[in-house]
Amino acid sequence: VNIQAYNTFGVDCTAKYFARFRSIKDLQDILADPIIKSQEILVLGGGSNLLFTKDFEGIVLKNELIGIYKVKEDKDHVWVEAMAGEEWHNLVLFAIDNDFGGIENLSLIPGSVGAAPMQNIGAYGVEIKDVFHELEAIHIETGEMVRFTKKRCKFGYRESIFKHILKGQYIITSVTLKLTKNHDTNTTYGAIEKQLWENNVKDPTIKHISDTVIDIRKSKLPDPALIGNSGSFFKNPVISLSKFEKLLEKYPDIAHYKLPNQQIKLAAGWLIEQAGWKGKTFENYGVHKNQALVLVNYGGAEGKDIYNLSEEILKDIKAKFNIVLEREVNIY
Ligand code: EPU
Repeated sequence: VNIQAYNTFGVDCTAKYFARFRSIKDLQDILADPIIKSQEILVLGGGSNLLFTKDFEGIVLKNELIGIYKVKEDKDHVWVEAMAGEEWHNLVLFAIDNDFGGIENLSLIPGSVGAAPMQNIGAYGVEIKDVFHELEAIHIETGEMVRFTKKRCKFGYRESIFKHILKGQYIITSVTLKLTKNHDTNTTYGAIEKQLWENNVKDPTIKHISDTVIDIRKSKLPDPALIGNSGSFFKNPVISLSKFEKLLEKYPDIAHYKLPNQQIKLAAGWLIEQAGWKGKTFENYGVHKNQALVLVNYGGAEGKDIYNLSEEILKDIKAKFNIVLEREVNIY
């Protein structure tokens, strides 16, 4: 089965088997099938955080569980459950329309609701963990439904337990967020503040923030519907303060953010741009011209070409800055 349409990099490749599920029962039936039991399983939501470097020799399961519901509320909060196959941005729009706060900074992030907690999506000063309540997932081996509290998910920067010890063991079926009725908007991110100020917005609503984030993203990040990509290809590296101080002597304007515990997060995009990769194009793939952290497929590129480019960048950043970048995108 060709799966080019199911990965936002737009890589032309196939999966040995392909199935979609629209209910938990469908999913449990698929998982109980003896043929499926022997296969490697890959669940796709939006297919927006992976790169296929070869054909997939197992079964691709497309999550099509749909629905967004208000579960309960109190004076200050509302709990919203969204099925994992919903588009993440659809959930953001639902929240904005109902004036539920907390995820406006996460507007326009590609991908599905189910994929969001996997890598603790984040942007403009907010991560899903900040509003996460719990999720439900099906255990692949037993078909049983299991509930994961926030604590159990072990969220970190673009990390959760589902990328580590529980990798490949659960399929997330729904996510419940705890959103606000009286909003405490987050405009700490420079680009948001700047644009609100330019538009003369003094007391921003969550709709203002969402619109601002959408504008910023559109100006910097390529639309996967037009140019194949998976957002940031690498994570921003975290280094020690002492290592940072040495770098600072050589590069006084190095982009960075202070973290607790004497650690510094660097902007990988800055490092890659300094190393001269920004906008570099090879035949039909390359490094995006407005954001060096994003690798792009201009059409027809092979996954392994893009992977090899990422290898070249990794080596170069190691050689020039003695920093080892980590990929954010999952490689298959
Ligand atoms: N920068 C450059 N050149 C570039 C890109 C960035 O010099 O080509 C420097 C600039 O100094 C800029 C700083 O890096 O001020 C930060 O850039 P940006 O605001 O674009 O954010 P980022 O750190 O590159 C991260 C996330 C994005 C998220 C933005 C906004 C990661 C790996 N990426 O990028 O998330 O949207 O912050 O919060 O943490 C994603 O994960 O797919 C993603 C797009």
